[in-house]
Amino acid sequence: MISSIKALLLLTASVSAAPAARNLLTPKLVKTPELKGVALDPNLIRDSCISTYELIDGRVLWLCRDTIILKNQSIPYYFEHGQLFGGGAAGLVSSSASWSDQGLLGPDFVQPPPQQGQKDVTSLYPAQLTQYGGSSIYDQDLAYVPYQPDECDGIPAGTSGGNCNDGTRYALWPDSPPVVTNTALDGTVTMHLYLRVPHTGFLRIVDFYPPCSLFKLTYTPNTDKTVLPSISLVAQDFFPRYVFNYGDFAHAKDPLGQTLYLWAQSFQGNYGLARVPVNAVEDLSQYEYYYSNGTGWSSVQPNVNQTEAYVDIGGLGASGQATIYWNPFFGQYVAFGQLEGEFVANLYMSLASNPEGPWSDATLVYSFPTGPSGNGYTLAAHPEMSLLPNEIYISYTGSSDYNNNTNDQVYNTPIYKLTFGLGL
Ligand SMILES: *[C@@H]1O[C@H](CO)[C@@H](O)[C@H](O)[C@H]1NC(C)=O
Ligand SMILES: *[C@@H]1O[C@H](CO)[C@@H](O)[C@H](O)[C@H]1NC(C)=O
Ligand SMILES: *[C@@H]1O[C@H](CO)[C@@H](O)[C@H](O)[C@H]1NC(C)=O
Ligand SMILES: *[C@@H]1O[C@H](CO)[C@@H](O)[C@H](O)[C@H]1NC(C)=O
Repeated sequence: MISSIKALLLLTASVSAAPAARNLLTPKLVKTPELKGVALDPNLIRDSCISTYELIDGRVLWLCRDTIILKNQSIPYYFEHGQLFGGGAAGLVSSSASWSDQGLLGPDFVQPPPQQGQKDVTSLYPAQLTQYGGSSIYDQDLAYVPYQPDECDGIPAGTSGGNCNDGTRYALWPDSPPVVTNTALDGTVTMHLYLRVPHTGFLRIVDFYPPCSLFKLTYTPNTDKTVLPSISLVAQDFFPRYVFNYGDFAHAKDPLGQTLYLWAQSFQGNYGLARVPVNAVEDLSQYEYYYSNGTGWSSVQPNVNQTEAYVDIGGLGASGQATIYWNPFFGQYVAFGQLEGEFVANLYMSLASNPEGPWSDATLVYSFPTGPSGNGYTLAAHPEMSLLPNEIYISYTGSSDYNNNTNDQVYNTPIYKLTFGLGL
């Protein structure tokens, strides 16, 4: 059902025109992507994981969409004891967060401990990047991103999925990761998360013009490594209905880390771009919006119907998210994601010297295996994991069968390492 909703969203997105402009040297893969392992918290089955583009206290901070909380790390238990609320799982939350560790050369891939559950998943991969932390939150069936009273939390009782009595849902799904907005001398890291508040029903969209909330996360260095950053709402409707959900689709800092660029994708399949000083993200008066009709940056906030404020990212856009960042090896901004209208794990890349564009036509980098569901999405880059900027870790949401039963599929998150060179 989760996949079907996303497929529906894709159908509503129209294909936008893409300008073509290229630099002389183009980043190209110099070898076949290397399957490093699977990102996994053995207690959870998770959809659509992404991570913050800077390390937090030397670690990776993950954020995922719908998360099934397993009993005893047991997928067999989950499937053999009936459906989610029939006792097969402890619960489902619409978002969860966790950490993973870094080694000297990159992500700290390990062999799963013998006593660990989810062998059905880990046996398919050469190693595991262990995700951990947050059990004090999800053990209470709470989502990491907190619900507000008017967002239908808590029905059915005991879940934090944003389900309403009328069968509709507010799925608070993180589409782009928290962005680091301050690091204090004592190591306290402040982050902000832009999150669209969609209202959907089964295979339908209730609100085609949803608002966007802004959250603040605070990480205080802690000897207990399982403690996650605290998260609180800065403003509901920070970007109100009918305005682009800036920062929900993607965001990128300039090379100096002073300006934050924020992309939005509307349910109509159009894209908007805003910018704000990194140290002023909570101050709406400091935001500027890009008008592609020749006006450039303006403090006048457009609505999603104004074609003058539409931008393009080379045709990227499926599943409502992309990873965009300044890559010093490429000497350009790079956008990784899926092509609009695709629902398989095809990684596309587009490049631009400026966030405003022009962005190159997205080109296919690699087609990853999707698993038995045939679906692949949330193709996410993890720039913070790399030792060198031409080595890029990519994860995505795929699937695997439990016990070779095609009716019993679980999400999983493979991670590949891609190595780029520059070529003509
Ligand atoms: C979890 O495992 C423990 C120890 O094997 C067992 O006592 C308990 O009943 C299990 N719980 C569930 C829900 O399967
Ligand atoms: C671009 O669109 C905005 C909003 O409609 C308008 O105010 C502005 O004058 C336009 N600029 C040009 C150069 O047409
Ligand atoms: C945008 O267009 C839609 C469809 O025509 C309309 O329902 C909506 O009211 C418009 N919103 C604004 C702010 O103009
Ligand atoms: C699933 O099928 C494969 C290929 O036929 C087989 O090697 C494997 O043992 C099967 N796994 C289970 C759990 O039955």
